[in-house]
Amino acid sequence: MKHEFIEKNVGLLAILIIIAISFGGLAQITPLIFQKETNTPVDTLRPYTALEMEGRDIYIREGCSVCHSQMIRPFRAETERYGHYSMAGESVWEHPFLWGSKRTGPDLARVGGRYSDAWHEVHLMNPRDVVSQSNMPGFPWLATDLLTGEDTARKLEIFNMLTKGQGHKDENGVMQPIYTEQDIAGAKAAVEGKTEMQALIAYLQSLGHAFK
Ligand code: HEC
Repeated sequence: MKHEFIEKNVGLLAILIIIAISFGGLAQITPLIFQKETNTPVDTLRPYTALEMEGRDIYIREGCSVCHSQMIRPFRAETERYGHYSMAGESVWEHPFLWGSKRTGPDLARVGGRYSDAWHEVHLMNPRDVVSQSNMPGFPWLATDLLTGEDTARKLEIFNMLTKGQGHKDENGVMQPIYTEQDIAGAKAAVEGKTEMQALIAYLQSLGHAFK
């Protein structure tokens, strides 16, 4: 009888369904937040250099992630094409995540080292010069826009804040922030005067470094 009452009350039914689904969702998601595998960086993971970090921001600004995912799924068709499937421990320091799901172009999770810097430069200026059928737009302004490095140090500081407790431990077992004082002090000099193209290519070449 109770069952019938619920089924005939659309509002009540909807509320109870939402409660039931939230429990299911929580049961799946909560353990992942605490699992070591998903919140500990793989040993080979190194932080982005200041230049790569700027390149990553350009990647976000130019909307590269609208057409490119960075998430190789554990299927044969994917691993044969892109390499080992993406591991959670490679993404621990990704803020925000750029996994994506829309693939107009290929996945870029392990594109680092696949092409030379020179290839990337030609490709980013005008993709048709190297891939005649490409429908990727060109990004020629990147070659002339210069980085000032004005807020690079601040970006590294904020990154340290976001990844608090997720760094590597030193020999005494004390958790270290990802960027050291020297990294932060040298951040501006490391990028100032470089082109956005150089930063973006540095970032692309770093993708997948932890797990080739
Ligand atoms: C409108 C969709 C679109 C956007 C936006 C886009 N791409 Fe692409 N990209 C493609 C397509 C399609 C290909 C495959 C053809 C080619 O190689 O040009 C591709 C290929 C690539 C490749 C070669 C990958 C490989 O494994 O061969 C790289 C690297 C790349 N894009 C980087 C970028 C970067 C960096 C940006 C942002 C500055 C960007 N793309 C923006 C569609 C896009």
